[in-house]
Amino acid sequence: MIKTFDNFPLKEKNSFRMDVSCARYIEYDKADDLKEIDFNTLPQPVLCIGGGSNLLFTADFPGTVLHSKIKFVKYVDVGLDEIPIAVGAGVTFDELVKETCGHGLWGLENLSLIPGDVGGAAVQNIGAYGVEIKDVVSGVVCYDIQEKKKVTFKKDECAYAYRSSRFKEAPDKGRYIITSVLFRLSRKARPQCGYQGLCDALGGIEPTSPQQIREEVIKMRQAKLPDPAVIGSAGSFFKNPVLTMDQFLHVAGVAEKEHGEHFPVPHYDAGLGMLKVPAAWLIEQCGLKGKRIGQAAVYEKQALVIVNDSGSASPEDILNAMEVVTNSVREKFSVSLTPEVEIIQ
Ligand code: EPU
Repeated sequence: MIKTFDNFPLKEKNSFRMDVSCARYIEYDKADDLKEIDFNTLPQPVLCIGGGSNLLFTADFPGTVLHSKIKFVKYVDVGLDEIPIAVGAGVTFDELVKETCGHGLWGLENLSLIPGDVGGAAVQNIGAYGVEIKDVVSGVVCYDIQEKKKVTFKKDECAYAYRSSRFKEAPDKGRYIITSVLFRLSRKARPQCGYQGLCDALGGIEPTSPQQIREEVIKMRQAKLPDPAVIGSAGSFFKNPVLTMDQFLHVAGVAEKEHGEHFPVPHYDAGLGMLKVPAAWLIEQCGLKGKRIGQAAVYEKQALVIVNDSGSASPEDILNAMEVVTNSVREKFSVSLTPEVEIIQ
């Protein structure tokens, strides 16, 4: 069924709680509903949102916001070690993780408590604690607006990369609407405990159920990240930058000048001689952790998150906070941060 609303308020539909509206808002609960929509006559542009947990509206949206309420979880070949699952794009991602962990299926547990819906998770290749959704996705089913038909992409055709996919980048951005996602989970134990913080939290003990990992991940997230139901935010605001060795040595030099020799810069190998440095560390070194910037702030427990903690921040307040952070990091470390959050102009 399709439901259509004009001049629709979006404050409850985006986790930053920006008080903006859209010209038209459409909800649908079946993939076939999309065939009935004449995309040429809709107010433009058209934007699909899931939980609205990774975007920043910068003004009233002149176009159409589409929201999937396709909710099903279908276990295909129960009984095998590998369990294929088809999941509607409108299923709340953490409801899925809770359910699959409850069934003892391995694969999604490290991604516990990430806000948003399954469709949005597959667009942006969500990741946490050493796992990305692409690691367990086997395919993505879409509606092609241009050809007006269903199309299925295998995982290898989705151009997955760090917080990115073909659905997020030109030329395909906006062309495909994800209607369901195919996962391959495992009955066999497949614990992913390489991420240092998770390994420490588990006390070096190999977990025997996905539920054990889920519980530790939930504890870690609750300790560091704001609860979107309480404090407006969109999780990590910036991507972790990938630096060349020269850029990294420059960062290390700045840190050494300020703190002396024994002040290592945290980093991870990003392949091809590149190193990934936590943006949160760079931001914290600029003295911005917990800093109030107008009606917004850099979150006091995790410097990668910009929060609308006052509840009354405007898009300008968030953009201003973004600029203060990017300018400070550029001036101090000569590193350019890019937003992880999708900024809707
Ligand atoms: N750190 C600081 N200051 C801080 C926070 C972190 O210096 O305030 C440094 C520490 O050295 C820490 C390191 O940054 O060891 C990494 O911190 P954390 O484990 O919190 O991870 P992150 O790199 O800051 C990424 C994801 C998160 C995900 C965590 C855990 C991105 C953009 N963010 O953050 O994803 O939950 O890893 O895996 O890659 C999100 O995408 O919205 C998100 C929350």
